[in-house]
Amino acid sequence: MVPPTTDNRPVALVTGPTSGIGRSFARRLAADGYDLVLCARDAERLKALAQEVADAQGTRSEILVVDLATPEGRATVADRLAAGVDVLVNNAGGMSNGTFWEQDLAVLERQIDVNVTAVMALTHAALPAMVRAGSGSIINVASIAAFFPGRGGSYAGTKSYVSGFTQALASELHGTGVRIQALCPGFVDTEFHERGGASTDAVPPKAILNPDDVVTASLSDLERGAVVSIPNTRYKILVMSGKLLPPVLTNWVSGRLF
Ligand SMILES: NC(=O)c1ccc[n+]([C@@H]2O[C@H](COP(=O)([O-])OP(=O)(O)OC[C@H]3O[C@@H](n4cnc5c(N)ncnc54)[C@H](OP(=O)(O)O)[C@@H]3O)[C@@H](O)[C@H]2O)c1
Repeated sequence: MVPPTTDNRPVALVTGPTSGIGRSFARRLAADGYDLVLCARDAERLKALAQEVADAQGTRSEILVVDLATPEGRATVADRLAAGVDVLVNNAGGMSNGTFWEQDLAVLERQIDVNVTAVMALTHAALPAMVRAGSGSIINVASIAAFFPGRGGSYAGTKSYVSGFTQALASELHGTGVRIQALCPGFVDTEFHERGGASTDAVPPKAILNPDDVVTASLSDLERGAVVSIPNTRYKILVMSGKLLPPVLTNWVSGRLF
Protein backbone atom coordinates (compact mmCIF):
# COMPACT_ATOMS: atom_id res chain seq x y z
CA MET A 1 0.00 0.00 0.00
CA VAL A 2 1.11 3.53 -0.76
CA PRO A 3 2.01 5.47 2.43
CA PRO A 4 -0.83 7.54 3.88
CA THR A 5 -0.96 11.30 3.56
CA THR A 6 1.27 13.12 6.02
CA ASP A 7 1.67 16.68 4.77
CA ASN A 8 -0.73 19.55 4.14
CA ARG A 9 -1.89 18.58 0.67
CA PRO A 10 -5.70 18.59 0.38
CA VAL A 11 -7.32 15.16 0.52
CA ALA A 12 -10.17 13.83 -1.62
CA LEU A 13 -12.03 10.63 -0.76
CA VAL A 14 -13.60 8.90 -3.76
CA THR A 15 -15.89 5.89 -3.51
CA GLY A 16 -15.92 3.52 -6.48
CA PRO A 17 -12.68 4.67 -8.16
CA THR A 18 -11.80 1.26 -9.65
CA SER A 19 -13.55 2.06 -12.94
CA GLY A 20 -15.69 4.55 -14.82
CA ILE A 21 -16.65 7.95 -13.43
CA GLY A 22 -14.97 7.33 -10.06
CA ARG A 23 -11.65 6.50 -11.69
CA SER A 24 -11.87 9.67 -13.77
CA PHE A 25 -12.57 11.69 -10.58
CA ALA A 26 -9.58 10.10 -8.83
CA ARG A 27 -7.20 10.77 -11.75
CA ARG A 28 -8.40 14.37 -12.19
CA LEU A 29 -8.26 15.20 -8.46
CA ALA A 30 -4.77 13.68 -8.25
CA ALA A 31 -3.70 15.81 -11.22
CA ASP A 32 -5.19 18.85 -9.43
CA GLY A 33 -2.89 18.23 -6.42
CA TYR A 34 -5.06 16.21 -4.06
CA ASP A 35 -3.93 13.17 -2.14
CA LEU A 36 -6.53 10.43 -2.29
CA VAL A 37 -8.50 8.04 -0.15
CA LEU A 38 -9.71 5.29 -2.50
CA CYS A 39 -12.63 3.11 -1.41
CA ALA A 40 -14.06 0.08 -3.23
CA ARG A 41 -14.09 -3.74 -3.13
CA ASP A 42 -11.46 -4.62 -5.74
CA ALA A 43 -8.15 -4.42 -3.86
CA GLU A 44 -5.98 -5.11 -6.94
CA ARG A 45 -7.55 -2.32 -8.98
CA LEU A 46 -7.30 0.08 -6.03
CA LYS A 47 -3.58 -0.68 -5.67
CA ALA A 48 -3.01 -0.28 -9.42
CA LEU A 49 -4.72 3.13 -9.39
CA ALA A 50 -2.76 4.26 -6.32
CA GLN A 51 0.46 3.25 -8.07
CA GLU A 52 -0.58 4.97 -11.31
CA VAL A 53 -1.23 8.35 -9.62
CA ALA A 54 1.89 8.00 -7.46
CA ASP A 55 3.98 7.48 -10.62
CA ALA A 56 2.18 10.26 -12.53
CA GLN A 57 2.41 13.07 -9.99
CA GLY A 58 3.57 11.75 -6.63
CA THR A 59 0.02 11.49 -5.28
CA ARG A 60 -0.25 9.57 -2.03
CA SER A 61 -3.25 7.30 -1.60
CA GLU A 62 -4.85 5.55 1.31
CA ILE A 63 -6.68 2.42 0.27
CA LEU A 64 -9.86 1.24 1.99
CA VAL A 65 -11.05 -2.12 0.69
CA VAL A 66 -14.72 -1.97 1.60
CA ASP A 67 -18.11 -3.20 0.51
CA LEU A 68 -20.41 -0.19 0.91
CA ALA A 69 -23.44 -2.46 0.92
CA THR A 70 -22.42 -3.54 4.44
CA PRO A 71 -22.64 -1.57 7.71
CA GLU A 72 -18.97 -2.48 8.42
CA GLY A 73 -17.79 -1.14 5.07
CA ARG A 74 -19.70 2.11 5.53
CA ALA A 75 -18.39 2.48 9.11
CA THR A 76 -14.77 2.11 7.95
CA VAL A 77 -15.18 4.92 5.43
CA ALA A 78 -17.21 7.04 7.86
CA ASP A 79 -14.40 6.83 10.45
CA ARG A 80 -11.90 8.11 7.88
CA LEU A 81 -14.24 10.94 6.86
CA ALA A 82 -14.75 12.01 10.47
CA ALA A 83 -11.00 12.63 10.67
CA GLY A 84 -11.45 15.24 7.92
CA VAL A 85 -11.15 15.41 4.14
CA ASP A 86 -11.44 18.36 1.74
CA VAL A 87 -13.51 16.64 -0.94
CA LEU A 88 -15.89 13.68 -0.79
CA VAL A 89 -17.11 12.08 -4.01
CA ASN A 90 -19.97 9.67 -3.31
CA ASN A 91 -19.72 7.89 -6.65
CA ALA A 92 -19.95 4.12 -5.98
CA GLY A 93 -23.18 2.70 -7.27
CA GLY A 94 -24.82 0.21 -9.54
CA MET A 95 -28.09 -1.00 -10.94
CA SER A 96 -29.71 -4.30 -11.69
CA ASN A 97 -31.57 -4.61 -14.95
CA GLY A 98 -34.92 -6.27 -15.27
CA THR A 99 -38.56 -6.16 -14.32
CA PHE A 100 -38.85 -4.97 -10.73
CA TRP A 101 -40.98 -7.78 -9.33
CA GLU A 102 -38.88 -10.47 -10.99
CA GLN A 103 -35.60 -9.25 -9.49
CA ASP A 104 -34.04 -10.81 -6.41
CA LEU A 105 -35.05 -8.74 -3.37
CA ALA A 106 -31.58 -9.13 -1.82
CA VAL A 107 -30.03 -7.56 -4.93
CA LEU A 108 -32.47 -4.65 -4.81
CA GLU A 109 -31.71 -4.13 -1.12
CA ARG A 110 -27.96 -4.06 -1.80
CA GLN A 111 -28.60 -1.47 -4.51
CA ILE A 112 -30.33 0.75 -1.95
CA ASP A 113 -27.54 0.14 0.58
CA VAL A 114 -24.86 1.33 -1.87
CA ASN A 115 -26.76 3.99 -3.86
CA VAL A 116 -28.71 5.53 -0.97
CA THR A 117 -27.64 4.45 2.53
CA ALA A 118 -23.92 4.85 1.83
CA VAL A 119 -24.41 8.31 0.26
CA MET A 120 -26.46 9.49 3.24
CA ALA A 121 -24.17 7.92 5.86
CA LEU A 122 -20.90 9.13 4.32
CA THR A 123 -22.26 12.64 3.81
CA HIS A 124 -23.34 12.60 7.47
CA ALA A 125 -19.86 11.48 8.53
CA ALA A 126 -18.02 14.07 6.43
CA LEU A 127 -20.02 17.18 7.23
CA PRO A 128 -19.19 17.95 10.89
CA ALA A 129 -15.46 18.38 10.16
CA MET A 130 -16.18 20.33 6.95
CA VAL A 131 -18.64 22.68 8.67
CA ARG A 132 -16.17 23.22 11.56
CA ALA A 133 -13.47 24.08 8.99
CA GLY A 134 -15.88 26.32 7.04
CA SER A 135 -14.86 24.63 3.79
CA GLY A 136 -15.13 21.41 1.83
CA SER A 137 -16.98 19.95 -1.13
CA ILE A 138 -19.25 16.95 -1.56
CA ILE A 139 -20.25 15.56 -4.95
CA ASN A 140 -23.05 12.99 -4.88
CA VAL A 141 -23.37 11.10 -8.15
CA ALA A 142 -27.07 10.84 -9.03
CA SER A 143 -28.28 10.36 -12.63
CA ILE A 144 -30.52 11.80 -15.27
CA ALA A 145 -32.78 8.93 -14.20
CA ALA A 146 -33.69 11.19 -11.24
CA PHE A 147 -35.64 13.31 -13.77
CA PHE A 148 -36.82 10.52 -16.11
CA PRO A 149 -37.69 7.50 -13.98
CA GLY A 150 -38.13 4.86 -16.65
CA ARG A 151 -37.53 1.10 -16.46
CA GLY A 152 -35.43 -0.12 -13.53
CA GLY A 153 -37.79 1.61 -11.10
CA SER A 154 -35.82 0.97 -7.94
CA TYR A 155 -32.57 2.30 -9.47
CA ALA A 156 -34.36 5.49 -10.60
CA GLY A 157 -35.78 5.78 -7.10
CA THR A 158 -32.30 5.63 -5.56
CA LYS A 159 -31.10 8.41 -7.85
CA SER A 160 -34.17 10.57 -7.11
CA TYR A 161 -33.21 10.24 -3.46
CA VAL A 162 -29.62 11.31 -4.11
CA SER A 163 -30.72 14.31 -6.17
CA GLY A 164 -33.46 15.43 -3.75
CA PHE A 165 -31.33 14.81 -0.65
CA THR A 166 -28.43 16.78 -2.08
CA GLN A 167 -30.54 19.74 -3.16
CA ALA A 168 -32.25 19.89 0.24
CA LEU A 169 -28.88 19.72 2.00
CA ALA A 170 -27.54 22.54 -0.16
CA SER A 171 -30.11 24.84 1.46
CA GLU A 172 -29.11 23.68 4.95
CA LEU A 173 -25.45 24.26 4.15
CA HIS A 174 -25.99 27.80 2.88
CA GLY A 175 -23.50 30.12 4.58
CA THR A 176 -21.33 27.33 6.04
CA GLY A 177 -18.66 27.50 3.33
CA VAL A 178 -19.32 23.86 2.37
CA ARG A 179 -20.36 23.15 -1.24
CA ILE A 180 -22.49 20.21 -2.31
CA GLN A 181 -23.52 19.00 -5.75
CA ALA A 182 -25.81 16.39 -7.28
CA LEU A 183 -24.10 15.19 -10.45
CA CYS A 184 -26.74 13.93 -12.90
CA PRO A 185 -25.16 12.39 -16.01
CA GLY A 186 -26.97 10.69 -18.86
CA PHE A 187 -25.43 7.58 -20.44
CA VAL A 188 -21.69 7.33 -19.70
CA ASP A 189 -19.18 4.92 -21.22
CA THR A 190 -18.22 2.83 -18.15
CA GLU A 191 -18.67 -0.72 -16.84
CA PHE A 192 -22.01 0.26 -15.31
CA HIS A 193 -24.42 -1.20 -17.87
CA GLU A 194 -22.47 -4.41 -18.37
CA ARG A 195 -22.26 -4.97 -14.62
CA GLY A 196 -26.00 -4.40 -14.31
CA GLY A 197 -26.82 -6.78 -17.16
CA ALA A 198 -28.07 -4.00 -19.45
CA SER A 199 -27.13 -3.07 -23.01
CA THR A 200 -26.48 0.35 -24.53
CA ASP A 201 -26.69 -1.01 -28.11
CA ALA A 202 -29.86 1.00 -28.79
CA VAL A 203 -28.35 4.25 -27.45
CA PRO A 204 -27.05 6.59 -30.19
CA PRO A 205 -23.24 6.88 -29.83
CA LYS A 206 -23.51 10.68 -29.57
CA ALA A 207 -25.61 10.27 -26.42
CA ILE A 208 -22.90 8.29 -24.63
CA LEU A 209 -20.61 10.54 -22.61
CA ASN A 210 -16.94 10.15 -21.84
CA PRO A 211 -16.36 9.83 -18.06
CA ASP A 212 -13.50 12.39 -18.14
CA ASP A 213 -15.87 14.93 -19.73
CA VAL A 214 -18.47 14.22 -17.04
CA VAL A 215 -15.87 14.95 -14.34
CA THR A 216 -14.69 18.14 -16.07
CA ALA A 217 -18.30 19.40 -16.22
CA SER A 218 -18.96 18.46 -12.59
CA LEU A 219 -15.88 20.24 -11.22
CA SER A 220 -16.46 23.33 -13.31
CA ASP A 221 -20.11 23.44 -12.15
CA LEU A 222 -18.88 23.04 -8.56
CA GLU A 223 -16.60 26.06 -9.02
CA ARG A 224 -19.50 28.21 -10.18
CA GLY A 225 -21.71 26.99 -7.33
CA ALA A 226 -24.20 24.91 -9.31
CA VAL A 227 -25.99 22.50 -6.96
CA VAL A 228 -27.20 20.31 -9.84
CA SER A 229 -24.73 19.41 -12.58
CA ILE A 230 -26.03 17.95 -15.85
CA PRO A 231 -23.06 17.37 -18.14
CA ASN A 232 -23.55 17.93 -21.88
CA THR A 233 -25.83 20.45 -23.62
CA ARG A 234 -28.12 17.79 -25.15
CA TYR A 235 -28.88 16.34 -21.72
CA LYS A 236 -29.39 19.82 -20.24
CA ILE A 237 -31.99 20.56 -22.94
CA LEU A 238 -33.63 17.17 -22.35
CA VAL A 239 -33.99 17.84 -18.62
CA MET A 240 -35.26 21.39 -19.16
CA SER A 241 -37.82 20.16 -21.72
CA GLY A 242 -38.83 17.37 -19.35
CA LYS A 243 -39.70 19.94 -16.70
CA LEU A 244 -42.08 21.65 -19.11
CA LEU A 245 -43.90 18.43 -20.07
CA PRO A 246 -46.97 17.10 -18.27
CA PRO A 247 -46.09 13.94 -16.24
CA VAL A 248 -47.79 11.63 -18.74
CA LEU A 249 -45.41 12.81 -21.49
CA THR A 250 -42.36 12.68 -19.19
CA ASN A 251 -43.24 9.04 -18.47
CA TRP A 252 -43.52 8.36 -22.22
CA VAL A 253 -40.06 9.89 -22.84
CA SER A 254 -38.64 7.91 -19.89
CA GLY A 255 -40.03 4.66 -21.24
CA ARG A 256 -38.29 5.26 -24.56
CA LEU A 257 -35.02 6.48 -23.04
CA PHE A 258 -34.46 3.73 -20.48
N1 LIG B 1 -22.57 4.90 -16.56
C1 LIG B 1 -23.71 5.57 -16.65
O1 LIG B 1 -24.38 5.61 -17.71
C2 LIG B 1 -24.20 6.34 -15.44
C3 LIG B 1 -25.19 7.32 -15.65
C4 LIG B 1 -25.66 8.06 -14.58
C5 LIG B 1 -25.17 7.83 -13.32
N2 LIG B 1 -24.22 6.85 -13.12
C6 LIG B 1 -23.73 6.65 -11.74
O2 LIG B 1 -22.34 6.86 -11.74
C7 LIG B 1 -21.76 6.18 -10.62
C8 LIG B 1 -20.50 5.47 -11.08
O3 LIG B 1 -20.87 4.48 -12.01
P1 LIG B 1 -20.02 4.13 -13.29
O4 LIG B 1 -20.86 4.41 -14.46
O5 LIG B 1 -18.67 4.71 -13.21
O6 LIG B 1 -19.99 2.54 -13.15
P2 LIG B 1 -18.80 1.47 -12.98
O7 LIG B 1 -17.77 1.64 -14.02
O8 LIG B 1 -19.52 0.15 -12.88
O9 LIG B 1 -18.16 1.83 -11.57
C9 LIG B 1 -18.84 1.57 -10.36
C10 LIG B 1 -17.88 1.76 -9.20
O10 LIG B 1 -18.61 1.58 -7.97
C11 LIG B 1 -17.92 0.66 -7.15
N3 LIG B 1 -18.87 -0.12 -6.36
C12 LIG B 1 -19.97 -0.76 -6.81
N4 LIG B 1 -20.55 -1.43 -5.79
C13 LIG B 1 -19.80 -1.20 -4.69
C14 LIG B 1 -19.88 -1.64 -3.33
N5 LIG B 1 -20.85 -2.47 -2.91
N6 LIG B 1 -18.94 -1.21 -2.45
C15 LIG B 1 -17.93 -0.39 -2.87
N7 LIG B 1 -17.80 0.05 -4.13
C16 LIG B 1 -18.73 -0.36 -5.04
C17 LIG B 1 -17.14 -0.23 -8.10
O11 LIG B 1 -15.96 -0.73 -7.47
P3 LIG B 1 -15.69 -2.26 -7.05
O12 LIG B 1 -16.39 -3.15 -8.02
O13 LIG B 1 -14.19 -2.37 -7.06
O14 LIG B 1 -16.24 -2.36 -5.65
C18 LIG B 1 -16.73 0.77 -9.20
O15 LIG B 1 -15.54 1.40 -8.85
C19 LIG B 1 -22.86 5.28 -10.07
O16 LIG B 1 -23.40 5.86 -8.90
C20 LIG B 1 -23.90 5.26 -11.18
O17 LIG B 1 -25.20 5.04 -10.68
C21 LIG B 1 -23.73 6.12 -14.14
